Amino acid sequence: MSRGSAEEALLRVEDLRVEFDTEDGVLHAVDGISYEVRRGRTLGIVGESGSGKTVAALTVLGLTRPMGARTSGRMIFEGRDLITLPDEELRALRGEEIAMVFQDPLSSLHPLYRVGAQLVEAVQAHRDVSKALARARALEMLGHVGIPDPARLAEQYPFELSGGMRQRAMIAMALVNEPRLLIADEPTTALDVTIQAQILGLLERLQRELSMAMILITHDLGVIAETAHDVAVMYAGRIVEAAPVDLLFADPEHPYTWGLLRSRPRLGVPREQELVPIAGSPPSLLHRPSGCHFHPRCPYAQPEHSRVDPALEPVPGAPDHSVACLLAAQTRRQLWAQLRAGRTPEQALVAAGLPAPEDARALPRGA
Ligand SMILES: Nc1ncnc2c1ncn2[C@@H]1O[C@H](COP(=O)(O)OP(=O)(O)O)[C@@H](O)[C@H]1O
Ligand code: SF4
Ligand SMILES: [Mg+2]
Repeated sequence: MSRGSAEEALLRVEDLRVEFDTEDGVLHAVDGISYEVRRGRTLGIVGESGSGKTVAALTVLGLTRPMGARTSGRMIFEGRDLITLPDEELRALRGEEIAMVFQDPLSSLHPLYRVGAQLVEAVQAHRDVSKALARARALEMLGHVGIPDPARLAEQYPFELSGGMRQRAMIAMALVNEPRLLIADEPTTALDVTIQAQILGLLERLQRELSMAMILITHDLGVIAETAHDVAVMYAGRIVEAAPVDLLFADPEHPYTWGLLRSRPRLGVPREQELVPIAGSPPSLLHRPSGCHFHPRCPYAQPEHSRVDPALEPVPGAPDHSVACLLAAQTRRQLWAQLRAGRTPEQALVAAGLPAPEDARALPRGA
């Protein structure tokens, strides 16, 4: 990446695969993804539910090991490959150098202990400091995440807090040892819109202040636009498009990304053009479609796309930007120009000189 190649990657993931053996066969949760997280930067990972985002994130921390996952590839963090790192060394790394914030705060806050005590324990698990020092650090961190009365909140139990305060407490817990990398997995999905914006603002501020790297996982491109420097779009266990954030929003290349963009509300766009959902639902990772995994839902699929599996490749003339789609780059550009102008996929296909598939004509607008 032009912006990135000068900066060293903190985490480099190469061809990561995570599979589960199930009664119905092998489930390919993560199918050969590669990405870099640069120091002090935020990588946004976006995709619908079931695309492998959480499994990919948990694997970085070794948390899919106890689930019986079969894992291959490389995950180089500060010179060490996390794939092969012994459990004990991974445990030492967790919370100290890499921390995670989950969608549900109750998955990392113990319901039966006061918040303050949990933070003190988190500090003392990694630092040889007195209880008084650990407590001072805990209160400082609670203040840092915007909790108005840290001493009072420290005495409360997680269930006594509002959703927003609980999420702040969990972020304080994750950051109390100043990790180099924070993985935030849908950290605001459970919250209402106002609190969501506050928490995202908080994460962005902390990321900058602590010059920490962050992986922010979401199903919402709006969240990516506000917080990420780089973006990877996941579909069916793979990355189908990756780019610096500005480039992805200005010139999206993958039909799935177009679908995500068209399905989110935008200011200044006439109501009838808003919120065009992507037709169909994401595939089961047990039985993935042949060829391009997106073809059953893709309005632009051509006959060979159900046979040929596209690789993730750089976009011609944009080495920072990669996409996995069999359409010619010029055709994609024409299609996106049409969609951006408010045309339907069928109209865009005709304008780009491609045959609109018979069944696509019969589908409702935006399908
Ligand atoms: N422990 C597990 N055993 C078997 N399959 C799993 C396990 N955990 C997750 N999966 C499967 O892995 C796939 C990806 O899930 P996940 O990473 O949670 O998706 P996302 O976070 O993108 O919604 C899903 O098909 C899910 O059912
Ligand atoms: S390869 Fe074909 S089916 Fe897959 S995203 Fe591109 S146009 Fe759609
Ligand atoms: Mg998830």
